[in-house]
Amino acid sequence: MCRPVFILSHAAMRHWCLLFLIFAVTGCSEKPQTMQVAGGDAARGKASIQRYGCVACHTIPGIAGHGSNVGPPLTKMALRAYVGGVLPNTPEDLVRWLQNPPEVDPRTAMPNLGVSEAEAKDIAAYLYTLK
Ligand code: HEC
Repeated sequence: MCRPVFILSHAAMRHWCLLFLIFAVTGCSEKPQTMQVAGGDAARGKASIQRYGCVACHTIPGIAGHGSNVGPPLTKMALRAYVGGVLPNTPEDLVRWLQNPPEVDPRTAMPNLGVSEAEAKDIAAYLYTLK
């Protein structure tokens, strides 16, 4: 009978441990996130998200409602690389997107909801609490 052998030599185990350590260490320092929105208030943002009914299209952690899959779930927004797949995910660009998505990308399915700049800053501050 032929059995696979899963026993690693000590040298191989040290090798894997080292690799794991390297990943663990670089993983932590990978991308220092400075997702601070000047003038944004996460608590007010949460209230605005509820008022605008964003959960009609999105699942958003911490926001009551059944959520929806019309748009992407807004989980881990602080770690997302792009907004709407077109803008780099920076505080300025997220605020811009929230105020008028079709102006950024005419083909997007997210409508302009008439969110003001102050509200967009608050909403962005809340979304950046999602990691
Ligand atoms: C009518 C449905 C609809 C509503 C209402 C809506 N969105 Fe969206 N949203 C979308 C769709 C669809 C996308 C994907 C757009 C794309 O990639 O072009 C999107 C994308 C986004 C993104 C970018 C996510 C990413 O991963 O790139 C954010 C952030 C966002 N919406 C926030 C909100 C907030 C906050 C509200 C409420 C103020 C809201 N949306 C209301 C449909 C909606």
